[in-house]
Amino acid sequence: MTAMSSQCLFVCFLLLFTLREGLCARNPGFKARITQKGFTYAINSATEALKENVQKLKIPDQSGKASGFDYSINNINVVQFTAPASTLNTIPGVGLSWRASGAGIKVHGDFHYKKLFIKDSGSFDADVSGLSFSLGLDIGEDTNGRPTISSTGCSSNIDHVNFHFKGGMSWLYNLFRDKVGRLIKDTLNKQMCTLINKEINEDAKNKLAQLKVTTRLGKKFLLDYRLIKKPEFQPQYMDTFHKGELFWLTDPGTESPLNPPPMPNDTDTSSMLYLWMSDYMFDTIGYTAQKHGFLVYNLTQKDLPPGNKGALNTTCSGIQCIGVLIPQIGKHFPNMNVELHMNSTQAPKMEVASGGVTLSFAGKIDMYATKPGSTAAPFLLTLHATMSTTVDVYMQKELLFAKIKDLDLKLKVEKSAVGEVSDFFLNFLIKQVLKSYLIPQLNDLGKRGFPLPVTGDIKFQNTKISFAKDTVLISTDLLYSPSTEYEIDDHDMSGPLKFKPFIRH
Ligand SMILES: *[C@@H]1O[C@H](CO)[C@@H](O)[C@H](O)[C@H]1NC(C)=O
Ligand SMILES: *[C@@H]1O[C@H](CO)[C@@H](O)[C@H](O)[C@H]1NC(C)=O
Ligand SMILES: *[C@@H]1O[C@H](CO)[C@@H](O)[C@H](O)[C@H]1NC(C)=O
Ligand SMILES: *[C@@H]1O[C@H](CO)[C@@H](O)[C@H](O)[C@H]1NC(C)=O
Repeated sequence: MTAMSSQCLFVCFLLLFTLREGLCARNPGFKARITQKGFTYAINSATEALKENVQKLKIPDQSGKASGFDYSINNINVVQFTAPASTLNTIPGVGLSWRASGAGIKVHGDFHYKKLFIKDSGSFDADVSGLSFSLGLDIGEDTNGRPTISSTGCSSNIDHVNFHFKGGMSWLYNLFRDKVGRLIKDTLNKQMCTLINKEINEDAKNKLAQLKVTTRLGKKFLLDYRLIKKPEFQPQYMDTFHKGELFWLTDPGTESPLNPPPMPNDTDTSSMLYLWMSDYMFDTIGYTAQKHGFLVYNLTQKDLPPGNKGALNTTCSGIQCIGVLIPQIGKHFPNMNVELHMNSTQAPKMEVASGGVTLSFAGKIDMYATKPGSTAAPFLLTLHATMSTTVDVYMQKELLFAKIKDLDLKLKVEKSAVGEVSDFFLNFLIKQVLKSYLIPQLNDLGKRGFPLPVTGDIKFQNTKISFAKDTVLISTDLLYSPSTEYEIDDHDMSGPLKFKPFIRH
């Protein structure tokens, strides 16, 4: 090996190492925890799903000779399934283990027998009780950031099989107790694991492989919540780590340069589900909205509330219009309307701290005088604006809502074509105008709610919201109610946001 190539090898190795380190060290934008309490609740609801399949289990027909009789047993069908009580435990560092006990199966069948001139038939019911099974579930991630699941080491056991007959003779009872009882036990034991393995390794696995890891948010954004690493298993919970970045819908390949801050190391397990959302998620919306020139708006008379429509007139009879408060404007541009061309100059940012949530914006406002029917729009002023708002964040059902509590606006004249203007009156007026426009606009956005990635079959209960450095934490219990369905695909900021299941049965 030449000196040159070994040097390259070394550099490449180093590069690979740092790249890898960089990727591994990435914090999630979104983190979820399902606790023991949540698993136990979920698995008991999910076990109901076994019912349908258990009823399709087949036990083969039997025939033979006993006590000189030729007999045959057929049409053996599962007619009823009593779901087991399940526990799903974490195996720290590995995955999950599922143990179920107390399941019951009712089997119905027919029998026929004959010996010379004696011939009879009847039917029987068998109660299979004390059915239990256990298996391991390996949970991982695939290359697209979707979770994977596979089962390991399934075993199943049956305690008792009791028979009830309609018709028949005593030798038959012994035959059933020994031979048919064993047949039913063996067949069901084997088929239960085949059935469960199929449900996990095929049905559940395929569903997970089709899981959407991105979802549209509004008309412009795409939320990416793919897994960024394998789920972690601790004694009382499983944590999943998601990207939690928002992209421009038509430019989903461009990453923001922002880095998610570390998530708090919380070990609480008293609720069923925990969701940590980093302020990074909001900041990536801000970044991409800014980058794509989305945060521009021309504020005109029509945006003002009914009681204040005249505020941007350059001529008015009272004192509540810009032409009176800033006399230079009224004098030089009478009988016109002022428009505010607003443009964000810096990506909006969210700051979460233990006290709550603050948003900050910075922008430029160019003011022009316009007249209906005229294309001339003389330039008046440029203002520099900074705005910060505290936000009430709250949960309703499975959506996260926000409401502006307090809006702090600072304005500074940067450029003027109308000479020196009174900061005092300008601030007074523009603040009023902006607040009357912006607060309803922002609240309108907040009112649509931010969807959380949970299945539509799951409802939240006992939901709490709390704040830590850079993180909003939602802790909640779950209620499984498969009646209502939500849609994910096409929610749109113009109506209430809807959300389709993240995981479904
Ligand atoms: C959380 O724990 C990890 C490892 O235990 C540590 O590296 C990290 O700094 C901790 N984060 C915080 C915010 O305390
Ligand atoms: C605002 O008005 C200006 C001038 O009329 C126009 O060029 C611009 O496209 C408008 N911007 C928006 C966001 O409507
Ligand atoms: C403001 O100007 C519009 C026309 O641009 C006019 O219709 C309206 O009456 C004026 N409002 C007041 C309060 O003067
Ligand atoms: C808004 O400001 C950005 C830079 O801050 C600039 O690139 C963009 O052209 C401006 N847009 C408008 C409509 O003025």
